Amino acid sequence: MDLLIKNGTIVTAKESFVGDIAIKDGKIVCIGTDLFVDAKKVVNAFGKLVLPGAIDVHTHLAMPFGGTVSADGYLSGTRAAACGGVTTVFDYPIQRKGRGIVETVQERKDMCDPEACVDYAFHCCITDLNEGSILDEFEAAVDFGVTSFKCFLVYKKEGMMVDDGTLVRILKKAKDTGAITNIHAENPDVIDLNISQFKAEGKTSAWYHYLSRPEYVEAEADKRAVHWAKAVDAPLYIVHMADKEGLEAAVAAKREGYDIYIETCPQYLEFTCDVYKREDGRNFVCSPPMKNKESQEALWKAIMDGSIDTVATDHCPFQSYEKDWGKDDFTKIPNGCAGIENLYPYMLSKANEGKISFNRAVELCATNPAKIFGCSQKGSLTVGKDADIVIYDINKDVTISVDNMHSDYDHTIWEGIKVKGYPVQTYVRGTLVYDEGEFVGTPGFGEYVKREPKK
Ligand code: URP
Ligand code: ZN
Ligand code: ZN
Repeated sequence: MDLLIKNGTIVTAKESFVGDIAIKDGKIVCIGTDLFVDAKKVVNAFGKLVLPGAIDVHTHLAMPFGGTVSADGYLSGTRAAACGGVTTVFDYPIQRKGRGIVETVQERKDMCDPEACVDYAFHCCITDLNEGSILDEFEAAVDFGVTSFKCFLVYKKEGMMVDDGTLVRILKKAKDTGAITNIHAENPDVIDLNISQFKAEGKTSAWYHYLSRPEYVEAEADKRAVHWAKAVDAPLYIVHMADKEGLEAAVAAKREGYDIYIETCPQYLEFTCDVYKREDGRNFVCSPPMKNKESQEALWKAIMDGSIDTVATDHCPFQSYEKDWGKDDFTKIPNGCAGIENLYPYMLSKANEGKISFNRAVELCATNPAKIFGCSQKGSLTVGKDADIVIYDINKDVTISVDNMHSDYDHTIWEGIKVKGYPVQTYVRGTLVYDEGEFVGTPGFGEYVKREPKK
């Protein structure tokens, strides 16, 4: 054996038990109690939790957006991931008018490959059907391992939005090819209307970012997406769900038996729209914005009752000077916040506090993401799967600060937040990449995850 992790409490989405895990050639080969095997390295995890590595299925690394490029590239973003217990990162390359899916993703894969510190996969955002030829490329994209396509129902002026006709064509074609459609749901016309009114009234602070895209703006688009997915009976994955009304519509459709999945993000679980009243409110500007307490409580209820399927970060940080572009005009603030290194510590901390079980945290952050997005080798501590493992100390409390993160950004919305318990080691395919606060991995070690289509 290459590695034996002994005496830890092994946590899966279903159960927790004390045991040992034996690893060879990057795979879990045996799980049991008191395993007697020779191993090159033995780690005593007594008193610690042994968890599957998290899969962050929503990040924007080196993303051109808001007049700049997001502050974490593939190296720093995946380094930070490793240090937060994330062993697979999904990025969102954006297909532009006239360009194909595979060439768009290949370009990003070439950038990522020499830099990735953990394993990585891609969704692809579709912004233009190229007179229909993009739909003909779905089979090739799926063969390439890209089995999810994202539609923005917003970002009209940025040239990223798709109309409802395009959405329906994508939903149908994705279904036919064993893929799934991811949706960013907000209504662009009402946002533009609100923005022009606020600007005319001289209302320019970050608070008006929230008021220009409040609950009803997201709810309408969530419901529209659910409506079209039901109409053509196609799988749908709603990203960064943040509002109660849209959430309830999606949950109702799931309960009717439709193939609908819901993602939310830690920032919506921790912060409310009140952050936009703060002096540093612009640092919290992301879309959709944080919502009111009622929405936050609905999200937590859905986390607890099993209606939400995944928690991912929407990691898209910008530097302070870039956020400052919008000091006197909220529309000039690049949209997006940091989170990749905080996902697992935050959700596990909530488990450690007793709000959810550790099993549920594992299900939301690792097991469900792997299942929904066709990563058969990931997301669970099971014999035969990749040895993507996090060792977690329930007694190590950390106060999050930009100074102890491993990204390239210069501030974080998570500054000062206290988490109860923290990952102490991360292994990707059996190789240690994070150890007691330090990144110990190698850029380029991360491998592309070729995902499988739904049968
Ligand atoms: O504000 C955000 N979320 N920025 C990243 C792009 C997106 O909408 O997911
Ligand atoms: Zn989005
Ligand atoms: Zn996003």
